Amino acid sequence: MKTISKISEIRNEIIGWKKNNFVVGLVPTMGALHIGHESLIKQAKDCCDKVVVSIFVNPIQFGPNEDYNIYPRNLEKDQEICKRNGVDIIFHPEPAEIYPENEHLTIVTPPEFYKNKLCGITRAGHFEGVSTVVLKLFNIVQPDKAFFGQKDAQQIVIIKKICRDLNVPVEIVGCPIIRDNDGLAVSSRNQFLSSEARQQALSLHRILQVIVDLYKSGSRQKCEIFTEALKELSDEVELEYLDAYDAETLDILNKLKSNTLVAIAARVGRVRLIDNIVIN
Ligand code: PAJ
Repeated sequence: MKTISKISEIRNEIIGWKKNNFVVGLVPTMGALHIGHESLIKQAKDCCDKVVVSIFVNPIQFGPNEDYNIYPRNLEKDQEICKRNGVDIIFHPEPAEIYPENEHLTIVTPPEFYKNKLCGITRAGHFEGVSTVVLKLFNIVQPDKAFFGQKDAQQIVIIKKICRDLNVPVEIVGCPIIRDNDGLAVSSRNQFLSSEARQQALSLHRILQVIVDLYKSGSRQKCEIFTEALKELSDEVELEYLDAYDAETLDILNKLKSNTLVAIAARVGRVRLIDNIVIN
């Protein structure tokens, strides 16, 4: 396994792979790898000949008051995880390699309809930052397939939309949310939760479960279902949003139906957490 930090160097490797007609998979990450990321890598290994994991804490997707500076970074541990999962290349560039010019950057802007809801409401500029770096990574690595977690449901929908609109020849593969035994969706930010905060954070998953149970028992009205489910919200948890969307188009729904994305975001102390479930 190689760890490469320069664009020119990874391009040379990819040229060699393409000559051999290898199917190339890319797993874009910001590092601090955990079992959620590992599941994406495993899926990539299953359906690609060569797998690249990018590890890049992308400064332009963090707002001024967000956690860019304290975002966990641990390259050595990430290398171990990648190695034991058979990754071929880790692409780990410095910010200056990805953004050599500080001014007048070309930014990929997803349509308002897709970005001005869910996490886009409180994270201004976030999806522009994500879309820009993902398109850059696609142009650098030129993967046949790229793997994203359903944990960031809005992110996948937006990346798919960009690939359709801009004719990007990459197949986007969505992978299921990985949870810890207690039900908490695994996240690099969970390490900032105290054990008490972690208990409070579990209410996010409980809320989603109640919604699924009520749907299964025949309820369809969003208002009624959400009012009941929100009784599970722990007092210390500050809800940012809970809403229902068409899982493909992100249209906001008033009545739940099959293929509804129910997504939640909340703050537990200083830690912002997201979770979701797709009702079928
Ligand atoms: P990051 O938060 O590191 O996540 C990398 C990928 O891992 C994303 O596709 C995310 O959805 C997936 N992932 C995280 N936790 C998961 C879990 N519990 N189960 C399944 N998949 C999970 O998302 C980003 O980085 C960045 O925005 C990025 C796409 C790399 C662009 O900078």
